[in-house]
Amino acid sequence: MNILDNKVAIVTGAAQGIGWRIAKQFASDGAIVYACDRQNLDDAKLQEFQNAGIHYVAFDVTDAAAMKQAMMSIYKAQGRIDCLVNNAGVVFNRKIGMIVREETELMFRINVIAVLELIQLVSRLMVRNGGGNIINIASVTAQLGSPGQVAYSATKGAIIALTKSAAKELASQNIRVNAVAPGIVQTERFAELYESDGSKIDQRISRIALGRLGTPEDIANACTFLASDRASYISGEILGVNGCASI
Ligand SMILES: NC(=O)c1ccc[n+]([C@@H]2O[C@H](COP(=O)([O-])OP(=O)(O)OC[C@H]3O[C@@H](n4cnc5c(N)ncnc54)[C@H](O)[C@@H]3O)[C@@H](O)[C@H]2O)c1
Repeated sequence: MNILDNKVAIVTGAAQGIGWRIAKQFASDGAIVYACDRQNLDDAKLQEFQNAGIHYVAFDVTDAAAMKQAMMSIYKAQGRIDCLVNNAGVVFNRKIGMIVREETELMFRINVIAVLELIQLVSRLMVRNGGGNIINIASVTAQLGSPGQVAYSATKGAIIALTKSAAKELASQNIRVNAVAPGIVQTERFAELYESDGSKIDQRISRIALGRLGTPEDIANACTFLASDRASYISGEILGVNGCASI
């Protein structure tokens, strides 16, 4: 008996990084997993998904029609949706004076509006089978603040707020809504984001009480718990997974 046996789960932004790890862990914990991303994968990568027993569905979360079609086809294929992980996200790090409106709008479109739209679509489908649960990926930057990430952290602050309201609104339909707020996680894009200035990352690690960066596995572990029935009395929570950071 696995912790997520037979649960039908959708993970967005799952072609790489944290989302890929969540999808992989959900599958190895017994779930029927649909990994979604805007990337068209090459054959080798698609084979990796197949080997892990994961379905891959390509669509862009900013394309409302494509998103709806994808959700409906997953529902038709499985007859139910038990879990949605809203993980797809983009980040543009800029100091206040350098903020670019187009980047900010794109971050809000992908990190916030698409999450709202997916919750709207999928909660309607979850209700047909008596409920489910939704996990939104926020960020420690929204909880503690982070210089150079004012616009990005605002999108993640919106995620924290909408998680709490959605949890209250959807509780009567037996849908739990929680968020996981990662600290700094070492993913493929990590080098591009942080490693250009090695001293800065050392400084950040020195402010993490557990003395190390997060791994995608750390985030996947938290998501697995929240997606499982072991968390059946937990909703509206923001679970920080940041090594006790004070970034
Ligand atoms: N890595 C970190 O340190 C960290 C920390 C806190 C929060 N997060 C959050 O965790 C989530 C995953 O981050 P990651 O580090 O794995 O990032 P990543 O860039 O490696 O992966 C994000 C994925 O989302 C996909 N994506 C982006 N825009 C999309 C769109 N419009 N439609 C469909 N897919 C889209 C990308 O193709 C990519 O595969 C994000 O929401 C991010 O904000 C990351």
